[in-house]
Amino acid sequence: MNETLDITITKTDQSRLTGIDFAQLPFGKVFSDHMFIAEYNNGEWSNLQVLPYGPVPMSPAISALHYGQAIFEGLKAYKQADGKISVFRADKNFERFNKSAHRMAMPAIPKEIFMQGIAALLEIDEAWIPALDGYSLYIRPVMYATDPYLGVRASDTYTFCLLTTPTGHYYSKALKVKVETEFTRADDGGVGFAKTAGNYARSLYPFAEAQKEGFDQLIWTDAATHEFIEEAGTANLIFVINGKLVTPSVRSTVLDGVTRDTIITLAKRAGVEVEERRVSVKEVIEGIQSGAVTDAFAAGTAATVTPIGEIGYEGQLYQLPAVETRTVSAGIAKALNDIRYGLAPDEFGWNWIVR
Ligand code: COI
Repeated sequence: MNETLDITITKTDQSRLTGIDFAQLPFGKVFSDHMFIAEYNNGEWSNLQVLPYGPVPMSPAISALHYGQAIFEGLKAYKQADGKISVFRADKNFERFNKSAHRMAMPAIPKEIFMQGIAALLEIDEAWIPALDGYSLYIRPVMYATDPYLGVRASDTYTFCLLTTPTGHYYSKALKVKVETEFTRADDGGVGFAKTAGNYARSLYPFAEAQKEGFDQLIWTDAATHEFIEEAGTANLIFVINGKLVTPSVRSTVLDGVTRDTIITLAKRAGVEVEERRVSVKEVIEGIQSGAVTDAFAAGTAATVTPIGEIGYEGQLYQLPAVETRTVSAGIAKALNDIRYGLAPDEFGWNWIVR
């Protein structure tokens, strides 16, 4: 890493850690004691601070609120078997953050601020990293536009913030998902590949409607024809079809998932054939009926590897094979966890050992 940055540290005088049972925490509701903040002004990042987690003063006129210039990331810190602290594939999340920033006309965050901010936060809040199998400290980088100005143009000022929240599984059971054929998440030439707030905002109404019908998540399809599967919004989608790992290829409407990429790499290492291509709804539904589709799962940082149990399409429910029979995804999920927790060699150099 480059020069050591000057980060002002203000510690809380009252930790909230006592009495927290990591195993009982819902995703993303309890934040660790501290957060990291940097501010962008006059073309440069400054005022780097670790400070107690809490409200940030802001004008109600900031452009992030009105015009949606806001991006985020998600990555995880692990307490490894030997007590070391690692962050998984931070480089890839850093790169994607700046791709999102570019598309949203926001300034890039320098790598040393992203990385040293995480390291400073993990040093001070190390006790918030759960030492429990399947658990981690989820790191949420976010950048938002702060010009208090109602004219429509890219903001001149921004805040970059790192929050952390101890987490287990985002989903606690196999998912019942609905193929969405009315609403769309992303369009060609739009911002679907970016981790920007608006992509999530536009998904909320269709998601709430699907929840009323008993579904846990949506399978988004392409905006033009609704014939091709894109992603789940909170995760990428991966299928096992005739023994091959098949996943919709990354395009302007599909997030280039870090967990997706990790799973593809691990599958290839295990000798599983991988196909990244367009995947039609018809192929998946017919494959479930014929038995060609033996596995389907959501893959994401928060979701990790979450099996899909049932798929709803045009009013019909299609049942996937029992989770216990899913040897391909179970094997990959285990290999992934073993690397993350330092139980297997990190042959791809994915773990950043922070301390
Ligand atoms: C992540 O997996 O880190 C995500 O950002 C998904 C999130 C919307 C829960």
